[in-house]
Amino acid sequence: MNREDFEIFKSGLIYLDNAATTMKPNSVINAIVDYYTKYTANAHRGDYDNSLKVDQEYEGAREKVRKFINAKRLEEIIFTKGSTEAFNMIIFGFMSNFLTKDDEVLLTKGEHASNILPWINLSKKIGFTIKYANLTEDYEVTIENLEKEITNKTKVIAIAHITNTIGDVRPVEEIGKLCERKKILFVLDATQSIGHLKMDVQKYNISFMGFSAHKMLGPTGVGVLYGKKELLEKIVPMEYGGGMNETFSSSGEYTLKKLPARLEAGTRNIAGVIGMGAAIDYLNKIGMDKIHQYEMELKKYLIEKLSAIPNITIYNKNNKSGVLLFNVGKYFSQDVAIYLNQFKICIRAGNHCAKMLQEVICVSNTCRVSLYLYNTKAEVDKLANALKNQDKILDTVV
Ligand code: ALA
Repeated sequence: MNREDFEIFKSGLIYLDNAATTMKPNSVINAIVDYYTKYTANAHRGDYDNSLKVDQEYEGAREKVRKFINAKRLEEIIFTKGSTEAFNMIIFGFMSNFLTKDDEVLLTKGEHASNILPWINLSKKIGFTIKYANLTEDYEVTIENLEKEITNKTKVIAIAHITNTIGDVRPVEEIGKLCERKKILFVLDATQSIGHLKMDVQKYNISFMGFSAHKMLGPTGVGVLYGKKELLEKIVPMEYGGGMNETFSSSGEYTLKKLPARLEAGTRNIAGVIGMGAAIDYLNKIGMDKIHQYEMELKKYLIEKLSAIPNITIYNKNNKSGVLLFNVGKYFSQDVAIYLNQFKICIRAGNHCAKMLQEVICVSNTCRVSLYLYNTKAEVDKLANALKNQDKILDTVV
């Protein structure tokens, strides 16, 4: 699908590590280059043509994000460095004043480090309890398992839409309804889903959400914090400086700007934001439903191919995303990844930043293939052919 839009594939690269980051189409790279070569200026600070053009592009990207996730208001979109910053803002900027020691926060053991470590850190300070909902045999989240853990102390459910390891798609619409019924805040980590599935923050009743541009064809170093306006307004800024204040004086008095500026201190990653806007244009042109359908077809083919090879154990055949976890016989996953590298095949090996999951699936290291819109059946064939020669795996490892 649209492979010619990606310069990097001309080298013969077979990139199957899209949960780590995605490749960038020429339109995204050109949007960034245009900013640096044709109209560099700061945002919201100048009265000359280039500065006004930057304001248009920067705020235009905010509107593209708003529409893409169906947020109600423009000021509910805050540009951050990425998902990690968004989650730290939610947890340390909002939850630190919202939660008390008697409260409970519900997570799962399949979450990424950025949606577990800040919670652990804050719970050590405040004393609230973190609970982990049980996963099914397929390592999936169910409403029943969430409900079993909910008490009248539960204040927040914080989970990923798609996990980066198991790749399971969580029932976000039902979870949103459950949270509405039980008056619980719903924090969604959309990092792995935003470039793959249609998002609708109003339909899913999401209180807060974070994601990164680089997992959706955009540049690194930029992402989004979404929050319902009345909740975002309660976030205490983690950064103070230019662009976010209205007034300040030597008496120590200061006033801050309204959202979104209040949470965007300093000069932001302007080129990144513009690049993210171009990435959204690119995804919209293809259509999110079409992207998901394509990935599912390719995933089916991948499973067929790998299942036909002896000694391959697949752990998550049934999920509805493009993420597949497997091991090859007795071989250590990293040795397999190094072996594949000689064929220019990129996969990820290890524990994939979800270190608690080994407590559930009882394997600490796996190979991970994660597909995206530009991958092809021919690439899957090359991967399968390479994995047929398992006796060669250790030859490349020094
Ligand atoms: N969290 C990213 C991954 O899953 C980096 O690879």
